Amino acid sequence: MEKQPTTEKSRDQFVSRIGFIFAAAGSAVGLGNIWRFPYLAGLNGGGAFVLFYLICVIVIGFGLMLAEFVIGRHTQLSSVDAFKKLDKRFTFVGVMGVLAAFIIMGYYPVVGGWSVAYIFKIVLGEFSTEPAVMGEIFGALSGGIMSPIFWTAIYLIMNIVIVAKGISAGIEKASKIMMPTLFALLVILVIRSVTLPGAMEGLRYLFVPDFSKMTGEVMLAALGQAFFSLSLGMGCMITYSSYLSKKENLVQSAIIVPAMDTSVALLAGMMIIPATVALGFDLGQGPGLVFVTVPAIFATMGPVVGRIFGILFFVLLTLAALTSSLSLLEVVVSYLIDNRKWERKRAVMITSIILFLMCIAASLSMGIWSGFQIIGKNIFDFLDWFANSLLLPIGGLFITLYVGWFWGKDKVKTEVTNNESVKFAIFNVWMFLCKFVIPIIIALVLLSGIGII
Ligand code: PFF
Repeated sequence: MEKQPTTEKSRDQFVSRIGFIFAAAGSAVGLGNIWRFPYLAGLNGGGAFVLFYLICVIVIGFGLMLAEFVIGRHTQLSSVDAFKKLDKRFTFVGVMGVLAAFIIMGYYPVVGGWSVAYIFKIVLGEFSTEPAVMGEIFGALSGGIMSPIFWTAIYLIMNIVIVAKGISAGIEKASKIMMPTLFALLVILVIRSVTLPGAMEGLRYLFVPDFSKMTGEVMLAALGQAFFSLSLGMGCMITYSSYLSKKENLVQSAIIVPAMDTSVALLAGMMIIPATVALGFDLGQGPGLVFVTVPAIFATMGPVVGRIFGILFFVLLTLAALTSSLSLLEVVVSYLIDNRKWERKRAVMITSIILFLMCIAASLSMGIWSGFQIIGKNIFDFLDWFANSLLLPIGGLFITLYVGWFWGKDKVKTEVTNNESVKFAIFNVWMFLCKFVIPIIIALVLLSGIGII
């Protein structure tokens, strides 16, 4: 498809439909699916968490993603300016989203850095089926001083180079190759994991809900994870779809992207949890889970095969992380460009320097600064919790309220159906979701998760 000129100023655009799906899915599929989902499932009782997560993805994921697509494509502006143009009273939603992107980028690159570091560790053969050995390898990396900061810097530089180049040149091209390869590799690893002796126990843990574990806190964790994983609630999908042509079928995209994202999360869970149980690792260990269990799965494949798969896995994890952090960085950068009229390169550079400082703090909080706590969490966990359990759900709440109550049904309908040229049979159901169901679920879960009800 040809590049099309957009509104007043010529804005970069996705050049093909599949390019947008891959970029949006690339934003969604990332560390959230492969690193965060399995460890949260492990920490929060497995099945109950997974069930509520799936409910959130189906009910909220689709509805909110569509709402963000509609806003982004209609205004052709990144989130802050999109709201400013539509209804000034909602500008704060965009601002909150930029803040959330900024906070997430204050620790996400640390995990991205671990992933890059692991490529080299696996090359050097630093992996074993022994929990103690793997725990030590991960502990030495994450709790260290210079080494994790070095890898974080490498990871951030990769982001800077791609985002500085703009949308279609960098992000779109990269996403098209990475996503399918990642998927294929995950399938192979799931097969390896579930065929380990004792793996069934892990599968049961993951899929059979124990309702006694379904507390407000678990539900909030699942809700936050759904937002984080789908890149929702912070205007990221608004920003991405602002680069979209008026011909795109938004409804289809809002189904395909969450479906892809959720399959990857479930595959990652099926890769990690059964192997964790089978090999005797600790399910509740938190952020280190992927980095200790996955190398152990490779170790069961023998030194050569294990190494080849291991390298491939961490290369792909790094790439999946990249396509997500690119989108996070893009939220902040496009705000500075559209709203503050900065030049792209300057926006990328200045943002990245500040982010690097935040990442240093987040990284050290896993080691020598672990004693410094905010509401009982180290800096890393606090940033993660604040963005995902608070800012994203609150952002999502207001985005759906805006589309449901304030924008005007006819205007929404015109945009979502491309001026009546695509069918959307359940338009009214979706409006009902935006008006009532999604805001009510979010509000209830938020209130019970933070202990108010
Ligand atoms: N969805 C990404 C992941 O699962 O890793 C993280 C993310 C990207 C969250 C972009 C939010 C966002 F706007």
